[in-house]
Amino acid sequence: MDFQLTEEQLAVQAAARDFAQNELWAGVIERDEHQKFPTEQIKKMGELGFLGMMVSPEYGGGGMDTVSYVLAMEEISKVDASCSVIMSVNNSLVCWGLEKYGTEEQKQKYLPRLTSGEIIGAFCLSEPEAGSDATMQRTTAEDMGDHYLLNGTKNWITNGSSASVYLVIAQTNPELKHRGINALIVEKDAPGFVVGPKENKLGIRGSDTHSLMFTDVKVPKENRIGEDGFGFKFAMQVLAGGRIGIAAQALGIASGAYELSLKYSKERKSFGVPISQHQAIQFKLADMATNIDAARLLCLQAAHDKDAHQDYAKSGAMAKLFSSKVAMDTAVEAVQVHGGYGFVKEFHVERMMRDAKITQIYEGTSEIQKIVISREILK
Ligand code: CAA
Repeated sequence: MDFQLTEEQLAVQAAARDFAQNELWAGVIERDEHQKFPTEQIKKMGELGFLGMMVSPEYGGGGMDTVSYVLAMEEISKVDASCSVIMSVNNSLVCWGLEKYGTEEQKQKYLPRLTSGEIIGAFCLSEPEAGSDATMQRTTAEDMGDHYLLNGTKNWITNGSSASVYLVIAQTNPELKHRGINALIVEKDAPGFVVGPKENKLGIRGSDTHSLMFTDVKVPKENRIGEDGFGFKFAMQVLAGGRIGIAAQALGIASGAYELSLKYSKERKSFGVPISQHQAIQFKLADMATNIDAARLLCLQAAHDKDAHQDYAKSGAMAKLFSSKVAMDTAVEAVQVHGGYGFVKEFHVERMMRDAKITQIYEGTSEIQKIVISREILK
């Protein structure tokens, strides 16, 4: 078993670390405070190749493996989980889904712009009554011959107003249940498509989350991804890979909170010594470091499975389940290590604690990951 990263993977990791430390750190508190979308930073991420990492160079992507993607996600999430969720949705859900299942025309039309950061994409599955139970799609895509007529509402959509291209999951034939669902590419300027107000969120406040309303939106048939009725499987496939990205995001939040705690514990003195000399703090640091290493191994295992074309539904769900718990636990402990300073914004860890929570909710709650894992174990 080889635990060594390749030179290329190490170079990607170093590039992501440099970018995050040099370009994201300085403004992250302000973006969080004012829910400011990181427009300039995302543009730069496109230029550096972080928005289409796994896409083939033929379509403007980096042609990298999932391991490199996980390494980059961890580094960027250590500093700014808002930037990394935008990156994750664009890479894992939109670009990967289009490259894997799109037609040649769809790939040529959208991927070069999505990978360069000229535009970004959104993935639209969740609805007011279909979060965990994703088969219960109320949004309809009525088959009108040469086009679909799209009607309905999507909720909690990441990149909701900043995206230009939306992959929308909708029900075409309710009698067929999940086998009657389609995935459609919808452009932002389509008549009848309205972006609702921005959600005021607990965490990842730099990313924009919106409801989307579709009223008699005409979507040409050539915008359907895959065969008629493939939409639900498309969503499940895309989410299985997306969970690896969110697992790496959670890992990054945990690593970021841990690194700040380690540094702080060596600087801050109490009872005449740095607090790192107290066993109470040492035990917290030891737990954090152990959990983070275990989470990283699960993330890399899932990434390796995907790169090796092995089944990654279980390993991806395990990575997300565990890493998101580690993110939450580590961030809470990081606030504790920082004491009163941890409770104020300038020390970053309170933001990390708020950001960590969403990793236990989106792309399937922790309970959904347990369903996916137990089904795989029992089948
Ligand atoms: N790959 C391919 N097909 C899959 C699949 C996978 N990984 N998982 C399920 N399927 C298929 C099944 O084979 C089945 O197909 P057939 O009937 O043709 O055999 C079909 O999908 C239905 O599967 P299930 O019967 O297992 O469906 P279910 O309703 O019992 O449960 C679930 C499925 C796992 C609970 C699913 O609904 C789920 O994942 N829910 C969570 C949804 C989710 O993650 N939402 C997140 C929104 S996106 C987001 O958060 C993005 C963001 O903003 C960051």
